[in-house]
Amino acid sequence: MSKLWGGRFTKETNKLVEQFTASIEFDQRLAIEDITGSLAHVQMLTECNVISEEDAEQIKSGLSILQRKIEDDKLDFYIEHEDIHMNIEKHLIDEIGPVGGKLHTGRSRNDQVATDMHLYLRERTIEFIDSVEAVQGALLSQASTHVETIVPGYTHLQRAQPISFAHHLLAYFWMFERDKERLKDSMKRINVLPLGAGALAGTTFPIDRERVAEILQFDSVYANSIDAVSDRDFIAEFLSIASIIMTHISRLSEELVIWSSQEFGFIELDDSFCTGSSIMPQKKNPDVPELLRAKTGRTYGNLIGLLTVLKGLPLAYNKDMQEDKEGMFDTVETLDGSLKLLAPMIETMAVNEKAMRKAVTEDYSNATDIADYLVTKGMPFREAHDIIGRVVLYAIKSQKYLLDLSIVEYKRFSPLFEEDIFDILEPEHVMNARDSHGGTATSQVKKQIEQAESKLNSSNKSPNI
Ligand code: ARG
Repeated sequence: MSKLWGGRFTKETNKLVEQFTASIEFDQRLAIEDITGSLAHVQMLTECNVISEEDAEQIKSGLSILQRKIEDDKLDFYIEHEDIHMNIEKHLIDEIGPVGGKLHTGRSRNDQVATDMHLYLRERTIEFIDSVEAVQGALLSQASTHVETIVPGYTHLQRAQPISFAHHLLAYFWMFERDKERLKDSMKRINVLPLGAGALAGTTFPIDRERVAEILQFDSVYANSIDAVSDRDFIAEFLSIASIIMTHISRLSEELVIWSSQEFGFIELDDSFCTGSSIMPQKKNPDVPELLRAKTGRTYGNLIGLLTVLKGLPLAYNKDMQEDKEGMFDTVETLDGSLKLLAPMIETMAVNEKAMRKAVTEDYSNATDIADYLVTKGMPFREAHDIIGRVVLYAIKSQKYLLDLSIVEYKRFSPLFEEDIFDILEPEHVMNARDSHGGTATSQVKKQIEQAESKLNSSNKSPNI
């Protein structure tokens, strides 16, 4: 098959070179975006009298035929035509004749591919904002039923202070809220139009870039044609945001794995989200959170891969930049699948309140409150900390918990202890005593849930388009 750029060449391309340089295998995912960009381009060309209305109509109807074929999965792509842009142009010329060759007037594949990627990531970003919200919704609904459920809070994975299980889940809600803000903010940089930059320096034709931006609903056009075709920051930014989201998903997954172990037994993932063992009949494995945790690695890899491709590139376009795609597609698929699994998995997980309760009563996580008790009676905190350290040591040696010690035993450590110490040590009291703004007291958690609900309800999904 003859090449669209074949004129200057005297030899056929080596088959291995053809395979090595082609991107059609993966960039066919951009087929619809490519046609969308072309339709806007040809519309502008005719409005600017660069091509006749008649030619433009033919090109548009040819592109629409191709679009339908793509949607019906009836368009074949060929490695000989290298990438999606030239495959579509070739098909267009086959469909409507030589007039199809006028489509590429005043543009280059360099501004074309950049435009396709902007269009593609804009759609995906809008979808991801929705999927992150679905996860937030699932967290919020579990949180709403577990405001009063007490669970050990950990630092260093050592029991630290009892907290509301809702409070713990809501910590993830806010992490995902920041992710959503990052996605929305990135739209400012995604929603900028490169088309019209030509190969790198602009074009000799009297084009109207603002008009193309208007048709494609871009907020603005790149101010510099070299920047327009060289910029892949918006992809690196997406990969970075996706990596942060996956980090959050991974941390939550790690907790789900730990919590569903027999050692913790705090939650049980729904049967429909677990798998069994081929040898051990009793096993119910948390494969989904394990894979979510692991897939985070490839999203980091894709980010570092692209940054590494870009770091040594001179301006403007270099073929190296074709390597921006596979990692991006992979991250899009990974993130999409991960978010879509996470929401229903959280929604359907069962919470074992009894096991959580047992854990908070069989530990020393109320120790801080005894120290605070002595502080309210006038003792400096540092002195109180030391005394309670010795109380805990004594209790551990006597194989008792802090609620099991008698007042006589407490008074041996300080005469400031009175009977009311036992009320203070109850887990509910310990939790509800943390009534500071953003704390774990149920009154605060309820306020937080209201705040979270209003965030979700007020969410403006696509601020810029
Ligand atoms: N397939 C190419 C890519 O993805 C399109 C741009 C090609 N431009 C060029 N001058 N060879 O980067």
